[in-house]
Amino acid sequence: MTTYEEIFEHNRQWVRSRTENDPHFFEKLAKDQQPDYLYIGCSDSRVPANEIMGLEPGEVFVHRNVANLVNNVDMNVMSVINYAVRHLHVKHIIVCGHYNCGGVKAAMTPQDMGLLNPWLRNIRDVYRQHAGELDALTSEHDRYDRLVELNVLEQCTNVIKTAAVQRSYNAHRFPEVHGWVFDLRNGLLKDLELNFKAKLKEIQKIYDLTAIPSQYSEEGDH
Ligand code: CO
Repeated sequence: MTTYEEIFEHNRQWVRSRTENDPHFFEKLAKDQQPDYLYIGCSDSRVPANEIMGLEPGEVFVHRNVANLVNNVDMNVMSVINYAVRHLHVKHIIVCGHYNCGGVKAAMTPQDMGLLNPWLRNIRDVYRQHAGELDALTSEHDRYDRLVELNVLEQCTNVIKTAAVQRSYNAHRFPEVHGWVFDLRNGLLKDLELNFKAKLKEIQKIYDLTAIPSQYSEEGDH
């Protein structure tokens, strides 16, 4: 285990190794960020976003919370999505869950979890929506894995419901939204192959937010 003091030593080593390879590394890093990817993942310490994707600093905008939820009234995730889409113009938004997710496990456990109740409710709602499919699985383990996947797909849908994503896609044909699961047991990423265009079309039957009300300017919307 790394001690607290060692972290600063590691940091200095990292700075040295970066500047050895590229003396202007930090100058360039300080200038700007133009990431093509927004990654929304779980806070779990075993799922380090940059590392599993092999991406460098500056290449991915990251938001993490317990069980990678995209909740409509969470100003944190909504601000991240808005900034990433409207200002950074990311090309891809990835919701990445992971098997063995403690948040999903807790949601499958029928008990009062105090402050976590409203957060876990989002996952319990996913279970309710897919109860037929999940209850048909005979093994608890299979139900757990499948709920991880269904939760990712539901959070992708929540990303697609935002005005920022719909309006940007309407105008520029990006970003596209993807659902992934990270498998802690072998380190591999699994693409759940969400059909973004079909999902967007389906969602817009009810949640179409592409029209701009006449009292708002193009730039002044939220
Ligand atoms: Co997790």
